[in-house]
Amino acid sequence: MPTVTILRRDKGKKESYEQTFSFEDKFRGSVVDLLHALNARETLEDASGAPAKRICFECSCETGSCGACAMLVNGTPMLACDAHLPDALRDGMLHLAPLTAFPCVCDLQVDRNVLRERARDAGLWLAGTPHSAEDAFFSECLHCGLCAEACEKYRSGRFDAPCAYTDADLLCGLEDADSARRKALKKSLKKALLCPCKTGECEDVCPRRLPLRQAIKRVGGSLFPF
Ligand code: SF4
Ligand code: FES
Repeated sequence: MPTVTILRRDKGKKESYEQTFSFEDKFRGSVVDLLHALNARETLEDASGAPAKRICFECSCETGSCGACAMLVNGTPMLACDAHLPDALRDGMLHLAPLTAFPCVCDLQVDRNVLRERARDAGLWLAGTPHSAEDAFFSECLHCGLCAEACEKYRSGRFDAPCAYTDADLLCGLEDADSARRKALKKSLKKALLCPCKTGECEDVCPRRLPLRQAIKRVGGSLFPF
């Protein structure tokens, strides 16, 4: 029987622990479907037969469109509703863990409010309509946090989440060069812009395939022209 091992944490606790569940060989569906199926069991028991608490996780659209189900699937940051069984199995096993770039709320659920708070503090909201199809493309960001998870510099506190630059790029395109919002953005992002990305790992995990390095470069060129 295939198994799924989940890195769990009870609400309000600091310690994490792993728990393994077995599931039917013939199970087909996404990782989100699997989590629903486990929670729908009349009695949830782990693979050793010990009683287990229902699994805490987030999801909404289940079509890769909202970003809520972002987690680590076999160590890779991805949307759980985009990971399908049996393809996601490794030697009959699956490992799930919460994103590490954000505080864990419970089991696989994390608190990504920091992305919204950072956007608020940097004035990253739109007051107009994107000028071009290219600008509109950046508005497709799900704010799922996968790019932040992939970015070692974000996790070490030296860089803004790469997705911040999709919003910043849009804003730079909409505001006059000397507008108060651009000045606030410049002040807010200055430190981060000194730390350009070379690896592109954020782009590799982005479910929207947004050109994040291009956004970072354009924001840098727009706010700090040589
Ligand atoms: S840029 Fe991509 S990975 Fe980052 S939050 Fe937006 S959709 Fe998610
Ligand atoms: S549930 Fe919306 S992206 Fe997975």
